[in-house]
This record gives sequence, structure tokens and C-alpha cells, in this order.
Amino acid sequence: MGDPRGRPELREALAEYLPRVRGVRTSAESIVICAGVRHAVELLTRVVGGPIAVEAYGLFIFRDAIAALGVPTVPIGLDEHGAVVSDLDGLDVPAVLLTPAHHNPQGMPLHPSRRTAVIDWAQRTDGYVFDDDYDGEFRYDRQPVGALQALCPDRVAYLGSTSKSLAQTLRLGWMVLPDDLIDPVIDAAGGAQFYVDAISQLTMADFITSGHYDRHIRRMRGRYRRRRDALVDALAGFDVGISGLAAGVNVLLTLPDGTEHEVLRRAGEAGVALQGLSRMRHPVAETDHRDGIIVGFAAPAEHAFAGAVDALCGVIRSSGL
Ligand SMILES: Cc1ncc(COP(=O)(O)O)c(C=O)c1O
Repeated sequence: MGDPRGRPELREALAEYLPRVRGVRTSAESIVICAGVRHAVELLTRVVGGPIAVEAYGLFIFRDAIAALGVPTVPIGLDEHGAVVSDLDGLDVPAVLLTPAHHNPQGMPLHPSRRTAVIDWAQRTDGYVFDDDYDGEFRYDRQPVGALQALCPDRVAYLGSTSKSLAQTLRLGWMVLPDDLIDPVIDAAGGAQFYVDAISQLTMADFITSGHYDRHIRRMRGRYRRRRDALVDALAGFDVGISGLAAGVNVLLTLPDGTEHEVLRRAGEAGVALQGLSRMRHPVAETDHRDGIIVGFAAPAEHAFAGAVDALCGVIRSSGL
């Protein structure tokens, strides 16, 4: 099965790519290939135990994956500066899962003072930060903020995947791990690279080292920027807010109180795939309920994008907004 961390060709390619593009501090030895960020979160949870602290709003798929291992999640607050990391001080948790470069789904970056505060928490408590850098390559207005991992590679596990850049169905991702987590994570994964096939790993390695991946990202960044701009323009006349940075492949539309359910119902009828914000809220978060919908703008084929925007506007109009 070869190296349990994954194919050396891909780990070497990532050891050149991630520092250059995301400021990650690593060498190939610290990289472990996995089947996406969700898989990384599962393996790390099995190693550190729990409970795991998570953002008050965040991807329910990861909360569910952690819960399926019998490990509880506990929410920390969220405001306009990102996760309220001072909430960690009142908790007895071995790790916190964050989206520091671009909060999912609210879309803000973690404030610089909170970046240093969460590293301080990790150093004081021997805790770990799981840095979910799911869309770090896609920032449209200026240079993206670098990976949190660079502040403290000993306490931060950096997690990335090809889900936003290529396809979620590929199930190809990577962890950049603190030294003391490498062997335990490999053990948790079964002691060998059982998850990602060698052909995908070698193809991805070649994609990166040939420069084609950089070109692909540049091209997609241009396309997604145009799509986001078109979406924002199309929504200008409606009673919806647009949350977060010009980044990523989703946008959160904030809605007037009490309207989310109706918008989702009408979207279902019209065949428009939207995610409700309520589902992203941790069930015991103290943060207020907010109404919103998350619109992914990457998926439609180029020729279908304008029609998809029209269909979305039709849903919002017919909901009386
Ligand atoms: C916040 C967040 N993290 C990570 C991912 C990617 O997860 P995976 O690599 O498991 O597909 C996504 C994709 O939807 C996401 O929204």
C-alpha cells in the first residue's frame, strides 16, 4: 500500500503548493492524504476525543460526522469578527474546528486579534485548532488571508480538499499535521492509505507540478468572480442582504425574520437547490436564530448560469421579498 501518509509525489507537490498559495508551513513529511475535509475531521476527532468546539453556525455535515463517532460538539459564539474564540476559555475541549479564512456560511474572515487569541488558547491548554481552509484559493477582491496554521504549526492541523476547486465527488483532500498527530492519525486511518486511490493521487500530483492546477484555479477564480458579481447585481432590488466577503463559491443571503421557510418551500417547488441557514445553526447555540439562504454559484454549467439566477430571482420575488 506504500506510504501510509499517501503518495510521496502528491505530498511533495502539496508541500510546494500550499506554502506558496496559502502560506502553510510544511514539508511533505507532515502531509497526510485523506478523502476530503470531512474525513480529516473524523480521523482527528478519533485521535483527540471530545467534545469538539465548533462555530455556532457551521457545516452540519461535520457536526453530524463528529456526533456519529459518539463525540459531542459544543458551540462557541459568532459575531461580525468571526468565531468568538474567548468562549473557549470556559470549555474543557481538546480541539476547535474553525473556518478562519472565510467563515462558512457567514463569510467573514477571523479577526487578526482572534487569530492570535485562538493560538494562545491552544498553546496554554495543549489544545488543537482544526483549520478548515475549504475555499482559501477563491478570494476575488484582494489577496486572501493566509492559513492560520502558519502562526503555529505545532498546534494547528490544516485541512484542505479539491471539493471547491475541482469536484466534491472526487473525495481527495489533505491534512498538514502537527508532528505529534501524524502517527495517531495514521493509526486511526487503519495504518495504511486505504482511502484514496493511487491513480487520483498521482493525477493530482501531476496536475499541480505541471502548473495546470494553478491555471485552472486562476480561470475558475475569474469565472466565479463574474458569477458572484452577476448574482449580487441581480439581487440588488430585493429585500435580501448579502453577507460576507467577495470570496468562495457560496453566498449567504440574509432574509427578513420568518421568511426562510417560505423561500425554501418555493425554491423546492421551482427546483432551485438552496440550503437554509437554520440548518447550519448548532442546535444549542446561544446565538439568535437568523433567517437566510445559502446560494452556491459554482455548480451550474456556464450556459445554464443565467437561467439559474433568473429562477432564484423568481423564487425570491414570488416570496414577496
Ligand atoms: C465549510 C466547509 N468545509 C469543507 C468543505 C469540503 O469538505 P469535503 O472536503 O469533505 O468535501 C466544504 C464543502 O462543502 C465546506 O462547506
